[in-house]
Amino acid sequence: MRFDLSAEQEMVRQMARDFAQTELLPGVIERDERQEFPEALVRRMGDLGFMGLMVSPEYGGGGMDTVSYTLVMEELSKVDASASVIVSVQNSLVNWGIEVYGTDEQKRRYLPLLARGEWVGAFCLSEPEAGSDATQQRTTAVRRGDRYILNGTKNWITNGGRAQLYLVIAQTDPSQGSRGISAFLVERSWKGVVVGKKEDKLGIRGSDTHTIIFNDVEVPAENRLGPEGFGFKLAMKTLEGGRIGIAAQALGIAAGAYELALRYSTQRRAFGVPIAKHQAIAFKLANMATQIEAARLLCWRAAWAKDNQLPYGTLASLAKLYASRTAMWVTTEAIQIHGGYGYVKEYHVERLFRDAKITEIYEGTSEIQRLILLRAISKGDSLWLA
Ligand code: CAA
Repeated sequence: MRFDLSAEQEMVRQMARDFAQTELLPGVIERDERQEFPEALVRRMGDLGFMGLMVSPEYGGGGMDTVSYTLVMEELSKVDASASVIVSVQNSLVNWGIEVYGTDEQKRRYLPLLARGEWVGAFCLSEPEAGSDATQQRTTAVRRGDRYILNGTKNWITNGGRAQLYLVIAQTDPSQGSRGISAFLVERSWKGVVVGKKEDKLGIRGSDTHTIIFNDVEVPAENRLGPEGFGFKLAMKTLEGGRIGIAAQALGIAAGAYELALRYSTQRRAFGVPIAKHQAIAFKLANMATQIEAARLLCWRAAWAKDNQLPYGTLASLAKLYASRTAMWVTTEAIQIHGGYGYVKEYHVERLFRDAKITEIYEGTSEIQRLILLRAISKGDSLWLA
């Protein structure tokens, strides 16, 4: 069993680290405060290939593996989880779905724009009445000849106000339950697409979260993604990969807070020595490092399974559950180590603490990840313990 990274993986990790430290870090506090979407930085991330990391070169992407994606997510998230969620939604929830389930025409039309970061994508599953219980879709798409008429409201849509393309999940046959749900690619410029309320959030405040409303939007039938009735499974498969990205985001938030706490505790002196020399602090740092490494291995394992065509849904849930809890715990400890300085914005750890919480909520709450794990255990699925 080998845990070393390839030269290409090391290179992309270093590139993401350099970009995060030199370009994301300046201004991150102000963007958080003003809830400012990092427009110019998204274009830069497009130039660097982060917006289409795993898209095939044939469609203008980097053709990289999922392990590389987790490395990029970790490095970006150490500094700016708002920027990293934009990358995660684009790669996992939009690009991947189009590449795996799209027609050649859909791939040629949308993937190059998305991979270059010229277009931003958003994933529209959640609704006011359908969050964790995602089969309860109220948005409808009714077939009329060569079009579908789309009506409904989607909530908590990351990239919502900035996206040019929405991957929308809607009911096409309510009598069929989850088998009567389909997926569509809907362009922002189409008549009837309305960008609603912007959310004022606790964390990831630089990312753009909106309600999106579809009023009699005419969607050409060729923009259905995958077969009719396949939309729920498509959403679930897509989220399996998304959860690896969010696990890596949580890992990055934890690792970023740990690095800040380690640096602070070797510089800050109390009772005549750097505070890292006090066992109360040293024990905290050792426990933080241990949990972060465990989270990293779970992320890499899930990514590796995906790259090796092994089942990875359960592993993704396991990684997300553990990494998000680690992010919450490590950021709390990082603030404690900083004392009063940790409670003010200038030292960054309070922002990482606020950003950590969303990783226990989006792309399936921790309760949903536990449900998925329990279902796997009860089925006797042993792969993730093997
Ligand atoms: N892969 C493929 N198919 C799957 C699947 C998977 N991972 N999970 C379920 N399905 C299939 C089932 O096999 C079943 O199909 P059949 O009828 O053919 O047997 C069908 O889907 C229905 O499945 P269930 O009976 O298991 O459905 P359920 O209602 O009991 O539970 C759930 C499903 C796992 C709880 C699901 O609703 C879920 O994951 N909920 C959380 C939703 C979520 O993660 N939302 C995130 C929003 S997006 C977001 O946050 C993005 C962002 O902005 C950052």
